[in-house]
Amino acid sequence: MDLTPFEPFLDRLGRSGLGAWRSTLAASIALRLGARAHGDLPRWERALAQLPDLPSARSRLDRACVGLQGAGALDADLGRSLSEALMVLHPWRKGPFCIQGVHIDTEWRSDLKWDRVAQAIAPLADRLVLDVGCGNGYHGWRMLGAGARLVMGIDPTLLFVLQWLAINRYLERDDLAVLPLGIEDLPGDLTGFDTVFSMGVLYHRRSPIDHLMELQRLLRPGGELVLETLVLEGEGERLLVPPGRYAAMRNVWFIPTVDALAVWLGRCGFTGIRVVDVTPTGQDEQCSTAWMRFQSLPDHLDPIDSSRTVEGHPAPVRAVLIANRPEASP
Ligand SMILES: C[S@@+](CC[C@H](N)C(=O)[O-])C[C@H]1O[C@@H](n2cnc3c(N)ncnc32)[C@H](O)[C@@H]1O
Repeated sequence: MDLTPFEPFLDRLGRSGLGAWRSTLAASIALRLGARAHGDLPRWERALAQLPDLPSARSRLDRACVGLQGAGALDADLGRSLSEALMVLHPWRKGPFCIQGVHIDTEWRSDLKWDRVAQAIAPLADRLVLDVGCGNGYHGWRMLGAGARLVMGIDPTLLFVLQWLAINRYLERDDLAVLPLGIEDLPGDLTGFDTVFSMGVLYHRRSPIDHLMELQRLLRPGGELVLETLVLEGEGERLLVPPGRYAAMRNVWFIPTVDALAVWLGRCGFTGIRVVDVTPTGQDEQCSTAWMRFQSLPDHLDPIDSSRTVEGHPAPVRAVLIANRPEASP
């Protein structure tokens, strides 16, 4: 894969006030797509090439099931070839998506998280947005649906980039991209976003304070951070560092209380710190489906006591915090 699928977005970015970073970002993408690319990439690219042309339809970005709504049902053969090509991109973790009657029933009902976040954030109308660890871009589509001017998603997992390309084959937008980049691949002087989202990423970082500092640097002065992460219930500044896996995940490092998180944000210099949601993750939000056939949350909870993970830790609870980069450095 070369840079071609990302060029319309990079051109748009170039006209958005972030043009100074276009060539550095393009070079980082080329590096990710080169030597370190995934062995399954050719198979995924063949699936993209097999996506059928569809009759014209209306895009829907402002509802739970993101996608395209046509005037009527697709012809059965067309629906089958669409499903089969999309299924090559299994596992579909974030969604749901509805493409002219084909319902991609994903592992996560990501719309539930979006509903918790959307009611609490500064209106996205005309904002320049960065979504760090954006998965396949589901929330990015919702951000466009909420009026964002441009959404730059970054995620180093190539399968999720290919899933975004598959959806964008039909939605055809140049104001959203899932770029195949980790946060560490971003230019060190990149800044200027009105809103930066970091959702489901902090607990995977070995240096969470550094992550918060990087997020702050990416914001324009006064810009808004939307931080969503696993938390430990209860008051006071406490922290769980799982000695092994957490809910079967190998790469969970820090699960703080919301009080501890607020202190971390304050130490990093954020202002206006507020906790806007704390919600236990239910099996209605995360479970295996036909489009994600591996194990999921129900398999990772204690079968006798669902308030505990299989390892005996508190079951997942997630919080949303909002904070601002100060208008000016003290
Ligand atoms: C738990 S998922 C969260 C996805 C989405 N933000 C959401 O809230 O549903 C974490 C995502 O972070 C991505 N990720 C892993 N390492 C990363 C890095 N170094 N920089 C940015 N994203 C990363 C993973 O590929 C994965 O898609």
